[in-house]
Amino acid sequence: MPEENRQYLVRLGGMSRMEQALITQLSQGELQEWVMKYAALYQEMMAYYRCAMMAVETKFNVLNEELSLRYDRNPIESVKTRLKAPESIIDKMTRRGFPLTVESIEKNIHDIAGVRVICAFPSDIYKLAEMFLRQDDIHLLERKDYFEHPKPNGYRSLHLVVETPIFLHDSKRMMKVEVQFRTISMDWWASLEHKIRYKKDLVLSEAIDQELLNCAEVSAELDRRMERLHQSVAKLNGG
Ligand code: GTP
Ligand code: MG
Repeated sequence: MPEENRQYLVRLGGMSRMEQALITQLSQGELQEWVMKYAALYQEMMAYYRCAMMAVETKFNVLNEELSLRYDRNPIESVKTRLKAPESIIDKMTRRGFPLTVESIEKNIHDIAGVRVICAFPSDIYKLAEMFLRQDDIHLLERKDYFEHPKPNGYRSLHLVVETPIFLHDSKRMMKVEVQFRTISMDWWASLEHKIRYKKDLVLSEAIDQELLNCAEVSAELDRRMERLHQSVAKLNGG
């Protein structure tokens, strides 16, 4: 970190992660300008994303409660949420050549608020996605079906980017949230692949890529077998 930036941040009285990330990208003049102009707006924007993320998380908890009453089983294993880290936001904006303003961040990054819904069976993914999209305060912006069409490396998941309102004391704001639907087995593979690959841009050997792909295929096969077992047992139970 340039010494002048360090001094400036010490004078500011501490460093947030956003500031830490900014100082590696900006000159001192640019940094001063950014903090003056955007720091408060940025905090506000992140608070709104956190609200939208909580609202979407609650929707899935509600669905899980209702479905477990109706069908005597929980289709959702767990719901995880995360706000994109400041350094990832800056990284993505810089990589894509967008200006680092709060307005531009909101316009160009769709996955600041992320909700991951881990389901029991593949069929639950589509059922839950459908129930979620039917809600009248959810507007679909983008859909990527890596379950039907896995990525070449074997990654599987259903991704939706939606817009949903949050209600503030005097206004309503539409916020984007990315929702990823996975089975336990898809999530297990993606988490381990992420750990193994460590950095997205790391080039691995062909043999490692191939082995990761093989593991993804084994995991997909397990999903299909579990789905068949689930359907057979449901039939036996008259479901
Ligand atoms: P980014 O959001 O910049 O990653 O690109 P994109 O908008 O094209 O994203 P996409 O919808 O394909 O994927 C977004 C998210 O899905 C990532 O942030 C990861 O959480 C997850 N993801 C996508 N591909 C992979 C993958 O190959 N491996 C793992 N582990 N996760 C992935
Ligand atoms: Mg994305």
